[in-house]
Amino acid sequence: MAPADAPTGSPAGGPADRAAELRALVTHHFERYHADNAPEIPDADYDLLVAELRSLEAEYPELAAPDSPSHWVGSPGRTTFDEVEHRVPMQSLDNVFDIDGLRAWSERVVRRLGDDAPDPAWACELKFDGLAVSLRYENGVLVQAATRGDGRVGEDVTANAATIADVPRSLGDGAPPVLEVRGEVYLGLAAFDALNALRTEAGQATFANPRNTAAGSLRQKNPEVTAARHLSFWVYQTGEVVDGPPLASHRETLAWLAGLGLPVNDQVERLDDFDEVVTFVAAAGATRHDLDYEIDGVVVKVDDLALQERLGSTARAPRWAVAYKLPPEERTTHLIDIEVSIGPGGQATPFARLEPVFVGGSTVTTATLHNADQAAAKDVRPGDLVVVRKAGDVIPEVVGPVLAERPVGLAAWTFPTECPACGGPLVRPEGEAATFCTDYQCPRQVRGRIQHFASRGAMDIEGFGEQRVDLFVTEGLVGDAADVFSLDYDRITAMEGFGETSVANLRAAVDTARTRPLGRLLFALRIPHVGSTVADLLAAAFGDLDGLRVAEMADIEAVAGVGPVIAASLRDWLGDERNGALLSRLRVAGVDPVAEAPQDPGAPAQTLAGLSIVVTGTLTGYSRDEARAAITAHGGKSPGAVSTKTSALVAGKGGGSKSARAEELGVPVLDEEGFERLLATGRLPG
Ligand code: IVH
Repeated sequence: MAPADAPTGSPAGGPADRAAELRALVTHHFERYHADNAPEIPDADYDLLVAELRSLEAEYPELAAPDSPSHWVGSPGRTTFDEVEHRVPMQSLDNVFDIDGLRAWSERVVRRLGDDAPDPAWACELKFDGLAVSLRYENGVLVQAATRGDGRVGEDVTANAATIADVPRSLGDGAPPVLEVRGEVYLGLAAFDALNALRTEAGQATFANPRNTAAGSLRQKNPEVTAARHLSFWVYQTGEVVDGPPLASHRETLAWLAGLGLPVNDQVERLDDFDEVVTFVAAAGATRHDLDYEIDGVVVKVDDLALQERLGSTARAPRWAVAYKLPPEERTTHLIDIEVSIGPGGQATPFARLEPVFVGGSTVTTATLHNADQAAAKDVRPGDLVVVRKAGDVIPEVVGPVLAERPVGLAAWTFPTECPACGGPLVRPEGEAATFCTDYQCPRQVRGRIQHFASRGAMDIEGFGEQRVDLFVTEGLVGDAADVFSLDYDRITAMEGFGETSVANLRAAVDTARTRPLGRLLFALRIPHVGSTVADLLAAAFGDLDGLRVAEMADIEAVAGVGPVIAASLRDWLGDERNGALLSRLRVAGVDPVAEAPQDPGAPAQTLAGLSIVVTGTLTGYSRDEARAAITAHGGKSPGAVSTKTSALVAGKGGGSKSARAEELGVPVLDEEGFERLLATGRLPG
């Protein structure tokens, strides 16, 4: 058995439990990805979670909830765009992952063309890592830009695409009456770094990678925001063309498009011999880091347009082109040491401390080794030269040692037996992959529990972030969640770095948290198996803490979406007298929540509950009344004046005096983009 507070990542119960768990996981990662622009797991892993949830819901229709995240196609509260039907469908490409796959594809092409056709010439070009966009020019003037969408219907992003410097508003002489071109919108690496530097300066979360940032930037409500992101564009194909010139090859097409003023990448080659294609692919892999933009492969196309036509397409992709996907970027660096971090549930995770290395678009200094088995299997040792890559191009990973470079006599690393934080024993429960520090009072666990308790999605206490939790625990101001509600504010005021305003804000945030609904509290307490979705289900079923405390196993199991595993875990947790004492102390501190009133299923998420948001100036996407209505619809208040109680000021153009007052009081000031993010996430900057 895992220790009482151990986190669980694997399904323990039946399909209902797994569905509930998946919903919570998908919701969490969806928010990290879309709302925070900070994905924690590779896209591929996220897709797997969604796919598993969908297949579970398909298999067990009784589990399919109308509000399941499996139905989401965009971020909640996100801007929507008009639909654009693509007259020529925007297809995708089939992928190959090695030279054998590429050769097999080329042989299929030759076979399909038959003996009477000449051997085709290959057009090789880079596969840009951005998002596909279609641009429609009528009589040489840009009239529409659309995303790929599902290939048949995309979104109209004309106003935003028109802000991209590489996208001509009008074409040069000789443009046909209708010319639709397709290409990739991307964010160059220098622009990406500059953007993140600005965000860091402004205290905003940085973006995770250029591709997601490009996609998010093109789907902004306000084109000025898109313009400020400095996106770029490469054209690589035509779509619908009316009365265009006679063209015989892809290469001629690109030359024609370049002549009209469209940006064509210069690394395009027409190659007759397949061995030359292999050389092109190898060169692209070797030089990908010399570029100021990211590529994830090479696209090989049959150059001759008549042969393309003969080859045709499948429902998904053309037969005349293929994407050779470059392997995730790998780099070597020295492994300085292997350390173990302790999570809030005591989970001990080994990670590599690395000499800084630039890989996959960012500098990496640490990489997880996941668990004892993985660390042992990789057998990397402090002092080794190791290969590092980004899994899914997001999370750094140590691939393995470069054995040829291993110094003689280098000692193998062994998993420590003592917790680096508290010195207590590290225990690996039978049958589990994870190892745990079992001391409930381990300072890392104490900090982790309090951090989670105060975090967004849990009790959401503004100003109670990681650093402050560390400080308050070190200073002995808090030891558990109940202490959060009896802080010694006089002592805090006397501490370095705190002024009266920040202490007043902290006090207000803590007071606000007292009124969070029961579901939030249950999630905040980190009861094993109780994620935010299950917490809400339990809250709705039992109404308040007393209802839950006296509930029998059978009552808990009877709650839809809660199976025997969760019920047993909850009963165990409630039965532990330390937890009983914690709940009693929370109650004494005024934390005795009830379940939220059931919501109208069509109502927006109550992201702004407890927040007071003032609106000033002129916004582009909302009238003042609409902005206020959006705030109240999301559960917030929108008074007319800025005061110490104001959570944030949304300032459009010309909102001078209120902005000055907000600044004076330390109230965060948001622009329209910040406002939309706030509506979607309920998260205040800072
Ligand atoms: S040609 C019928 N050329 O890769 C589709 N696509 O994985 C023809 N891409 O949706 C596409 N660079 O967004 C083509 N040089 C290039 C490309 C490219 C990037 C993207 C494109 C496509 C995706 C497929």
